[in-house]
Amino acid sequence: MTVVPPDEAGLRRAADLLRADSVVAFPTETVYGLGAHAFSEKAVAEIYRLKNRPSWNPLIVHVAGVAEARKLAAEWPDVADDLAARFWPGPLTLVVRRAPHLTVAGAANDTIAIRVPAHEVALRLLEATGLPLAAPSANRSEGLSPTTAEHVVRGLPDVPLVLDGGPCRWGIESTVLDVAAGAPRLLRPGALSLRAIREVIGRVALPSEQVADGSARPSPGMSKRHYAPRARLVLADTIPERERTSGLVTLDDVEGAEVLGHDPAEYAADLYAALHRLDDRGVATIIVQRPPATEEWLAVHDRLNRAAAR
Ligand code: TXA
Ligand code: MG
Repeated sequence: MTVVPPDEAGLRRAADLLRADSVVAFPTETVYGLGAHAFSEKAVAEIYRLKNRPSWNPLIVHVAGVAEARKLAAEWPDVADDLAARFWPGPLTLVVRRAPHLTVAGAANDTIAIRVPAHEVALRLLEATGLPLAAPSANRSEGLSPTTAEHVVRGLPDVPLVLDGGPCRWGIESTVLDVAAGAPRLLRPGALSLRAIREVIGRVALPSEQVADGSARPSPGMSKRHYAPRARLVLADTIPERERTSGLVTLDDVEGAEVLGHDPAEYAADLYAALHRLDDRGVATIIVQRPPATEEWLAVHDRLNRAAAR
Protein backbone atom coordinates (compact mmCIF):
# COMPACT_ATOMS: atom_id res chain seq x y z
CA MET A 1 0.00 0.00 0.00
CA THR A 2 1.36 3.37 -1.03
CA VAL A 3 -0.31 6.74 -0.45
CA VAL A 4 0.68 9.39 -2.96
CA PRO A 5 -0.32 12.98 -3.63
CA PRO A 6 -2.48 13.46 -6.72
CA ASP A 7 0.24 15.21 -8.70
CA GLU A 8 1.44 14.33 -12.23
CA ALA A 9 3.55 11.42 -11.00
CA GLY A 10 0.84 10.10 -8.68
CA LEU A 11 -1.81 10.23 -11.38
CA ARG A 12 0.48 8.53 -13.86
CA ARG A 13 1.15 5.70 -11.42
CA ALA A 14 -2.55 5.33 -10.75
CA ALA A 15 -3.42 5.33 -14.45
CA ASP A 16 -0.74 2.71 -15.16
CA LEU A 17 -2.15 0.41 -12.48
CA LEU A 18 -5.71 0.85 -13.76
CA ARG A 19 -4.68 0.14 -17.34
CA ALA A 20 -2.94 -3.00 -16.09
CA ASP A 21 -6.22 -4.31 -14.59
CA SER A 22 -5.24 -3.45 -11.01
CA VAL A 23 -7.13 -1.26 -8.54
CA VAL A 24 -6.52 2.22 -7.10
CA ALA A 25 -8.32 4.16 -4.36
CA PHE A 26 -9.11 7.75 -5.26
CA PRO A 27 -11.03 10.67 -3.77
CA THR A 28 -14.43 11.80 -4.99
CA GLU A 29 -16.55 14.63 -3.63
CA THR A 30 -18.67 12.07 -1.69
CA VAL A 31 -16.38 9.35 -0.31
CA TYR A 32 -13.18 7.61 -1.46
CA GLY A 33 -13.77 5.06 -4.19
CA LEU A 34 -11.96 1.81 -4.97
CA GLY A 35 -11.52 2.15 -8.71
CA ALA A 36 -11.00 -0.38 -11.47
CA HIS A 37 -11.51 -0.59 -15.21
CA ALA A 38 -15.27 -1.20 -15.24
CA PHE A 39 -15.21 -3.75 -18.05
CA SER A 40 -12.12 -5.71 -17.06
CA GLU A 41 -13.25 -8.94 -15.49
CA LYS A 42 -9.97 -9.30 -13.65
CA ALA A 43 -9.96 -5.76 -12.22
CA VAL A 44 -13.59 -5.91 -11.14
CA ALA A 45 -13.03 -9.30 -9.48
CA GLU A 46 -10.24 -7.68 -7.46
CA ILE A 47 -12.69 -5.03 -6.15
CA TYR A 48 -15.11 -7.73 -5.00
CA ARG A 49 -12.30 -9.70 -3.38
CA LEU A 50 -10.72 -6.76 -1.52
CA LYS A 51 -14.08 -5.46 -0.27
CA ASN A 52 -15.45 -8.94 0.43
CA ARG A 53 -18.48 -7.65 -1.48
CA PRO A 54 -21.27 -10.06 -2.37
CA SER A 55 -21.30 -10.72 -6.11
CA TRP A 56 -24.98 -9.74 -6.43
CA ASN A 57 -24.24 -6.13 -5.49
CA PRO A 58 -23.37 -4.19 -8.68
CA LEU A 59 -20.93 -1.28 -8.92
CA ILE A 60 -21.33 2.36 -9.90
CA VAL A 61 -19.42 3.26 -13.05
CA HIS A 62 -17.70 6.66 -13.05
CA VAL A 63 -17.24 8.48 -16.35
CA ALA A 64 -15.84 11.85 -17.45
CA GLY A 65 -19.04 13.28 -18.94
CA VAL A 66 -22.52 12.75 -20.35
CA ALA A 67 -21.22 11.59 -23.73
CA GLU A 68 -19.30 8.74 -22.07
CA ALA A 69 -22.33 7.90 -19.92
CA ARG A 70 -24.60 7.59 -22.96
CA LYS A 71 -22.22 5.08 -24.52
CA LEU A 72 -22.86 2.72 -21.59
CA ALA A 73 -26.64 3.01 -21.81
CA ALA A 74 -29.08 1.14 -24.04
CA GLU A 75 -31.49 4.04 -23.65
CA TRP A 76 -30.90 7.54 -22.41
CA PRO A 77 -34.23 9.02 -21.29
CA ASP A 78 -34.95 12.77 -21.35
CA VAL A 79 -35.01 12.93 -17.55
CA ALA A 80 -31.45 11.59 -17.52
CA ASP A 81 -30.45 14.43 -19.82
CA ASP A 82 -32.17 17.03 -17.65
CA LEU A 83 -30.63 15.66 -14.46
CA ALA A 84 -27.15 15.31 -15.96
CA ALA A 85 -27.27 18.85 -17.33
CA ARG A 86 -28.12 20.20 -13.90
CA PHE A 87 -26.17 17.95 -11.51
CA TRP A 88 -23.15 16.44 -13.30
CA PRO A 89 -20.39 16.51 -12.35
CA GLY A 90 -21.87 15.85 -8.92
CA PRO A 91 -23.19 13.42 -6.29
CA LEU A 92 -26.04 11.91 -8.33
CA THR A 93 -25.93 8.34 -9.67
CA LEU A 94 -28.37 7.46 -12.44
CA VAL A 95 -29.53 3.91 -13.06
CA VAL A 96 -30.37 3.40 -16.73
CA ARG A 97 -30.79 0.42 -19.05
CA ARG A 98 -27.34 -1.02 -19.80
CA ALA A 99 -25.92 -1.29 -23.29
CA PRO A 100 -26.25 -5.02 -24.06
CA HIS A 101 -22.57 -5.52 -24.99
CA LEU A 102 -21.37 -4.45 -21.52
CA THR A 103 -21.43 -7.20 -18.97
CA VAL A 104 -18.99 -6.93 -16.11
CA ALA A 105 -19.71 -4.01 -13.79
CA GLY A 106 -23.49 -4.24 -14.05
CA ALA A 107 -23.42 -7.72 -12.49
CA ALA A 108 -26.43 -9.81 -13.44
CA ASN A 109 -29.09 -7.19 -14.14
CA ASP A 110 -29.88 -5.29 -17.33
CA THR A 111 -29.23 -1.86 -15.85
CA ILE A 112 -26.13 0.15 -15.05
CA ALA A 113 -25.48 2.84 -12.42
CA ILE A 114 -23.43 5.78 -13.71
CA ARG A 115 -22.15 9.07 -12.37
CA VAL A 116 -19.73 11.87 -13.23
CA PRO A 117 -17.84 12.74 -10.04
CA ALA A 118 -17.21 16.38 -9.11
CA HIS A 119 -13.66 16.00 -7.86
CA GLU A 120 -10.69 17.26 -9.76
CA VAL A 121 -8.57 14.21 -8.94
CA ALA A 122 -11.29 11.77 -10.01
CA LEU A 123 -11.87 13.66 -13.24
CA ARG A 124 -8.15 13.84 -14.02
CA LEU A 125 -7.84 10.12 -13.40
CA LEU A 126 -10.76 9.39 -15.74
CA GLU A 127 -9.11 11.59 -18.34
CA ALA A 128 -5.65 10.06 -17.86
CA THR A 129 -6.93 6.48 -18.24
CA GLY A 130 -9.65 7.12 -20.79
CA LEU A 131 -11.51 4.27 -19.02
CA PRO A 132 -14.91 4.05 -17.36
CA LEU A 133 -14.03 3.34 -13.72
CA ALA A 134 -16.15 1.15 -11.50
CA ALA A 135 -15.76 2.49 -7.98
CA PRO A 136 -17.62 1.41 -4.89
CA SER A 137 -16.73 3.09 -1.63
CA ALA A 138 -13.22 1.99 -0.60
CA ASN A 139 -14.16 -0.01 2.51
CA ARG A 140 -14.91 -3.61 3.47
CA SER A 141 -18.48 -4.55 2.61
CA GLU A 142 -21.00 -3.32 5.25
CA GLY A 143 -18.37 -1.16 6.97
CA LEU A 144 -17.97 2.59 7.29
CA SER A 145 -17.16 4.45 4.10
CA PRO A 146 -13.82 6.30 3.98
CA THR A 147 -13.74 10.07 3.77
CA THR A 148 -9.95 10.40 4.02
CA ALA A 149 -6.97 8.51 2.55
CA GLU A 150 -6.10 7.43 6.09
CA HIS A 151 -9.49 5.69 6.44
CA VAL A 152 -8.75 3.74 3.24
CA VAL A 153 -5.31 2.68 4.49
CA ARG A 154 -6.74 1.35 7.74
CA GLY A 155 -9.76 -0.32 6.20
CA LEU A 156 -8.23 -1.82 3.06
CA PRO A 157 -4.48 -2.19 3.66
CA ASP A 158 -4.06 -4.45 0.62
CA VAL A 159 -4.99 -1.79 -1.93
CA PRO A 160 -1.76 -1.10 -3.88
CA LEU A 161 -2.18 2.68 -4.28
CA VAL A 162 -4.23 5.49 -2.72
CA LEU A 163 -4.37 8.97 -4.23
CA ASP A 164 -4.63 11.34 -1.27
CA GLY A 165 -6.95 14.22 -2.11
CA GLY A 166 -7.67 15.26 1.49
CA PRO A 167 -11.08 14.94 3.16
CA CYS A 168 -14.15 14.51 0.95
CA ARG A 169 -16.44 17.51 0.74
CA TRP A 170 -19.83 15.77 1.11
CA GLY A 171 -18.72 12.85 3.30
CA ILE A 172 -21.77 10.76 2.37
CA GLU A 173 -22.43 8.70 -0.77
CA SER A 174 -24.18 9.90 -3.91
CA THR A 175 -27.95 9.83 -4.28
CA VAL A 176 -28.97 6.87 -6.47
CA LEU A 177 -31.97 7.44 -8.75
CA ASP A 178 -33.51 4.83 -11.05
CA VAL A 179 -34.64 6.39 -14.33
CA ALA A 180 -34.51 3.12 -16.29
CA ALA A 181 -38.26 2.67 -16.59
CA GLY A 182 -41.35 4.62 -15.60
CA ALA A 183 -41.34 7.35 -12.97
CA PRO A 184 -37.94 8.16 -11.44
CA ARG A 185 -37.41 6.23 -8.22
CA LEU A 186 -35.11 6.94 -5.35
CA LEU A 187 -32.96 3.89 -4.62
CA ARG A 188 -30.56 5.43 -2.12
CA PRO A 189 -30.87 8.86 -0.48
CA GLY A 190 -27.52 10.62 -0.51
CA ALA A 191 -25.55 13.82 -0.86
CA LEU A 192 -27.85 15.39 -3.44
CA SER A 193 -31.13 16.41 -1.79
CA LEU A 194 -34.55 15.27 -3.00
CA ARG A 195 -35.61 18.89 -3.06
CA ALA A 196 -32.94 19.72 -5.63
CA ILE A 197 -33.94 16.73 -7.79
CA ARG A 198 -37.65 17.59 -7.62
CA GLU A 199 -36.89 21.11 -8.80
CA VAL A 200 -35.68 19.58 -12.08
CA ILE A 201 -37.97 16.59 -12.68
CA GLY A 202 -40.95 17.00 -10.36
CA ARG A 203 -42.08 13.88 -8.54
CA VAL A 204 -39.69 11.24 -7.27
CA ALA A 205 -41.02 7.93 -5.94
CA LEU A 206 -39.64 7.21 -2.47
CA PRO A 207 -38.68 3.68 -1.38
CA SER A 208 -41.65 3.50 1.03
CA GLU A 209 -44.15 4.33 -1.76
CA GLN A 210 -42.50 1.75 -4.02
CA VAL A 211 -43.14 -0.95 -1.43
CA ALA A 212 -46.75 0.21 -1.02
CA ASP A 213 -47.59 0.17 -4.74
CA GLY A 214 -45.64 -3.01 -5.49
CA SER A 215 -43.18 -1.36 -7.91
CA ALA A 216 -40.21 -1.81 -5.60
CA ARG A 217 -37.11 -3.11 -7.29
CA PRO A 218 -34.78 -1.97 -4.57
CA SER A 219 -31.13 -1.21 -5.01
CA PRO A 220 -29.41 -4.54 -4.51
CA GLY A 221 -26.82 -2.96 -2.25
CA MET A 222 -29.25 -1.60 0.30
CA SER A 223 -28.93 -4.38 2.83
CA LYS A 224 -30.37 -3.89 6.28
CA ARG A 225 -26.97 -3.68 7.95
CA HIS A 226 -24.48 -1.39 6.22
CA TYR A 227 -22.31 1.66 6.86
CA ALA A 228 -21.53 0.24 10.29
CA PRO A 229 -18.69 1.11 12.64
CA ARG A 230 -17.00 -1.70 14.59
CA ALA A 231 -18.65 -0.48 17.79
CA ARG A 232 -22.32 -1.19 18.44
CA LEU A 233 -24.29 1.85 17.31
CA VAL A 234 -27.43 2.86 19.18
CA LEU A 235 -29.83 5.68 18.29
CA ALA A 236 -31.33 7.61 21.19
CA ASP A 237 -33.79 10.49 21.41
CA THR A 238 -32.17 11.80 24.53
CA ILE A 239 -28.57 11.32 25.50
CA PRO A 240 -28.40 9.19 28.61
CA GLU A 241 -25.99 9.89 31.45
CA ARG A 242 -22.64 9.38 29.88
CA GLU A 243 -21.06 5.99 30.33
CA ARG A 244 -17.31 5.69 30.32
CA THR A 245 -17.31 3.01 27.65
CA SER A 246 -19.55 4.86 25.18
CA GLY A 247 -18.81 7.27 22.41
CA LEU A 248 -21.34 10.01 21.80
CA VAL A 249 -22.46 11.67 18.57
CA THR A 250 -24.73 14.64 19.13
CA LEU A 251 -26.36 17.57 17.38
CA ASP A 252 -25.99 19.81 20.41
CA ASP A 253 -22.95 20.67 22.43
CA VAL A 254 -22.34 17.89 24.95
CA GLU A 255 -19.04 17.57 26.74
CA GLY A 256 -16.83 14.81 25.33
CA ALA A 257 -19.16 14.16 22.38
CA GLU A 258 -18.57 14.35 18.64
CA VAL A 259 -20.79 17.40 18.07
CA LEU A 260 -22.02 17.46 14.48
CA GLY A 261 -24.53 20.32 14.67
CA HIS A 262 -27.97 20.99 13.20
CA ASP A 263 -27.16 21.49 9.52
CA PRO A 264 -27.80 18.22 7.65
CA ALA A 265 -25.08 18.74 5.05
CA GLU A 266 -22.45 19.70 7.63
CA TYR A 267 -23.57 16.82 9.82
CA ALA A 268 -23.26 14.34 6.94
CA ALA A 269 -19.86 15.72 5.94
CA ASP A 270 -18.39 14.76 9.32
CA LEU A 271 -20.51 11.73 10.29
CA TYR A 272 -18.29 8.90 8.97
CA ALA A 273 -15.15 10.66 10.16
CA ALA A 274 -16.67 10.98 13.64
CA LEU A 275 -17.60 7.28 13.68
CA HIS A 276 -14.09 6.37 12.48
CA ARG A 277 -12.61 8.47 15.32
CA LEU A 278 -14.77 6.73 17.91
CA ASP A 279 -13.86 3.32 16.48
CA ASP A 280 -10.19 4.31 16.73
CA ARG A 281 -10.74 5.11 20.41
CA GLY A 282 -11.94 1.53 20.79
CA VAL A 283 -15.32 2.33 22.38
CA ALA A 284 -17.71 -0.63 22.67
CA THR A 285 -20.85 1.40 22.01
CA ILE A 286 -21.61 4.58 20.11
CA ILE A 287 -24.75 6.43 21.15
CA VAL A 288 -26.08 8.75 18.43
CA GLN A 289 -28.63 11.46 19.20
CA ARG A 290 -31.44 10.95 16.69
CA PRO A 291 -31.61 13.84 14.18
CA PRO A 292 -34.95 15.53 13.35
CA ALA A 293 -37.44 13.38 11.38
CA THR A 294 -37.57 15.77 8.41
CA GLU A 295 -36.81 15.01 4.78
CA GLU A 296 -33.57 16.97 4.65
CA TRP A 297 -32.18 14.39 7.08
CA LEU A 298 -33.29 11.43 4.93
CA ALA A 299 -29.80 10.31 3.88
CA VAL A 300 -28.39 10.65 7.40
CA HIS A 301 -31.30 8.62 8.86
CA ASP A 302 -30.81 5.99 6.19
CA ARG A 303 -27.13 5.53 7.07
CA LEU A 304 -27.68 5.65 10.85
CA ASN A 305 -30.52 3.13 10.74
CA ARG A 306 -28.44 0.70 8.69
CA ALA A 307 -25.40 1.24 10.92
CA ALA A 308 -27.57 0.45 13.96
CA ALA A 309 -29.11 -2.69 12.41
CA ARG A 310 -27.83 -5.99 13.76
O1 TXA B 1 -20.83 8.36 -3.74
C1 TXA B 1 -20.80 7.24 -4.25
O2 TXA B 1 -21.72 6.79 -4.92
C2 TXA B 1 -19.53 6.40 -4.02
C3 TXA B 1 -18.38 7.09 -4.73
C4 TXA B 1 -17.10 6.31 -4.66
O3 TXA B 1 -18.74 7.39 -6.06
N1 TXA B 1 -19.73 5.06 -4.47
C5 TXA B 1 -20.55 4.20 -3.82
O4 TXA B 1 -20.57 2.93 -4.38
O5 TXA B 1 -21.20 4.49 -2.85
P1 TXA B 1 -21.14 1.66 -3.61
O6 TXA B 1 -20.77 0.50 -4.43
O7 TXA B 1 -20.66 1.65 -2.20
O8 TXA B 1 -22.69 1.85 -3.70
C6 TXA B 1 -23.33 1.64 -4.94
C7 TXA B 1 -24.82 1.57 -4.75
C8 TXA B 1 -25.23 0.27 -4.12
O9 TXA B 1 -26.34 0.50 -3.26
C9 TXA B 1 -25.63 -0.55 -5.35
O10 TXA B 1 -26.53 -1.58 -5.04
C10 TXA B 1 -26.24 0.51 -6.23
O11 TXA B 1 -25.44 1.64 -6.05
N2 TXA B 1 -26.24 0.09 -7.64
C11 TXA B 1 -25.17 -0.11 -8.44
N3 TXA B 1 -25.58 -0.54 -9.66
C12 TXA B 1 -26.93 -0.60 -9.62
C13 TXA B 1 -27.94 -0.98 -10.55
N4 TXA B 1 -27.63 -1.36 -11.79
N5 TXA B 1 -29.23 -0.92 -10.17
C14 TXA B 1 -29.55 -0.51 -8.92
N6 TXA B 1 -28.65 -0.14 -7.98
C15 TXA B 1 -27.35 -0.19 -8.32
MG1 MG C 1 -20.41 1.43 -0.10
